[in-house]
Amino acid sequence: MRNPEARVQSPLSNFLPNQPAWEKKAGLRGARGLTDHPTPAAGGTTPAAAAGGPVPPLDLGSSPRQDKHLNFTELVAKDTGAWGGRGRVLGGQRGGACLGVSQNMSSNLRSARKFLVFLGKSLFSILEALIFGLIPKPRKNVAGEIVLITGSGSGLGRLLALQFARLGSVLVLWDINSEGNEETLQMAREAGAMRVHAYTCDCSQKEDVYRVANQVKKEVGDVSILINNAGIVTGKNFLDCPDELMEKSFDVNFKAHLWTYKAFLPAMIANDHGHLVCISSSAGLVGVNGLADYCASKFAAVGFAESMFVETFALKQKGIKTTIVCPFFIKTGMFEGCMTRCPLLLPILDPEYTVRKIVDAILQERLYLCIPKFLYLMLFLKSFLPAKTGLIIGEYLGILESMEGFTGQKKKV
Ligand SMILES: NC(=O)c1ccc[n+]([C@@H]2O[C@H](COP(=O)([O-])OP(=O)(O)OC[C@H]3O[C@@H](n4cnc5c(N)ncnc54)[C@H](O)[C@@H]3O)[C@@H](O)[C@H]2O)c1
Repeated sequence: MRNPEARVQSPLSNFLPNQPAWEKKAGLRGARGLTDHPTPAAGGTTPAAAAGGPVPPLDLGSSPRQDKHLNFTELVAKDTGAWGGRGRVLGGQRGGACLGVSQNMSSNLRSARKFLVFLGKSLFSILEALIFGLIPKPRKNVAGEIVLITGSGSGLGRLLALQFARLGSVLVLWDINSEGNEETLQMAREAGAMRVHAYTCDCSQKEDVYRVANQVKKEVGDVSILINNAGIVTGKNFLDCPDELMEKSFDVNFKAHLWTYKAFLPAMIANDHGHLVCISSSAGLVGVNGLADYCASKFAAVGFAESMFVETFALKQKGIKTTIVCPFFIKTGMFEGCMTRCPLLLPILDPEYTVRKIVDAILQERLYLCIPKFLYLMLFLKSFLPAKTGLIIGEYLGILESMEGFTGQKKKV
């Protein structure tokens, strides 16, 4: 049970941790210098002080007080030794009360300043976003950067490799499919890459990720752009989906991101330079039937990348950027057989177009990229519309049937 007496504290105790420098200079030491004052109990001198001995420190609220009937000024006066009885606050000791008032004022000024800085920064960031919404943000130079792409053996990964080859980056290609990865390596060389390194790596295996990562650090150097792109899909209703496949979805689509960050983020922090790219999906923002394990793993990937973005901000690692990519279906073969009923708003995306958008977002250091733009509106609607309305919209747009014709990966890009 709470002790009601415990709430009665010396008014000075509020100020104790923040004694300002001017006050220290003025000789108001320790607990407002009060331990040097005679501490009268109810108007008198303490026995210790009277005897010329050391005066015990004030009781600042650790034990119940008997004087809670006193008003603020009286309490201050009492604690500062100016208490001469009810209605007799001794002259020259009003400083204690003034001190409290001036402390309050300076703390209010500090809060007001903090609020104004917050307001200024927020408005500036909104203005910046508006301006860069109208005119394109300058693109950074990635020539010579070491770019690691997982799942580079086909699809988006391969096309990303070709784009970065044209931009003069050093390429590190990871895929479980050695043959497809070698093909990408050849294509990247033809596209003008000066340095390309292909590694066979099963990203679903933590040990494999760490082993190959160490090899890369020794043979190529510190990765400065990490693109977590490898992905798989089972495409079954939840109860038809074998446990191993669901676990695999998580291992490739999400957990691999943890291990690659662990392997390459420390060097990025040491150099205060790096870019972390998460290829997630629109299924990482909105739940879809027939894709429960895929959606869950893609939501996890978004949550992880977003949290790491916040963590790097909180740790003031300003040189480390994050880009989170959430596209709708793309014609790479991964979602072969899936369809859209609303191609105007939710078209099945062209892989070349998607990769151009992704590379642009990386070069402009954008945090989020949703393709097509209609996904931003869907997210906005989801944030406030009733769930039932959301389902009606999903039904109308054909999202509930989009997985019906799914056959999965057949042809490669
Ligand atoms: N295709 C789409 O419609 C679509 C839509 C949204 C998001 N995405 C995402 O984009 C990314 C690329 O997909 P894609 O369309 O290019 O598919 P894809 O199948 O062509 O490419 C995926 C690549 O990942 C590799 N991979 C799979 N498991 C791996 C593992 N354990 N270790 C290493 N590599 C592994 C595959 O060998 C393949 O080369 C995926 O993360 C996917 O989820 C795709």
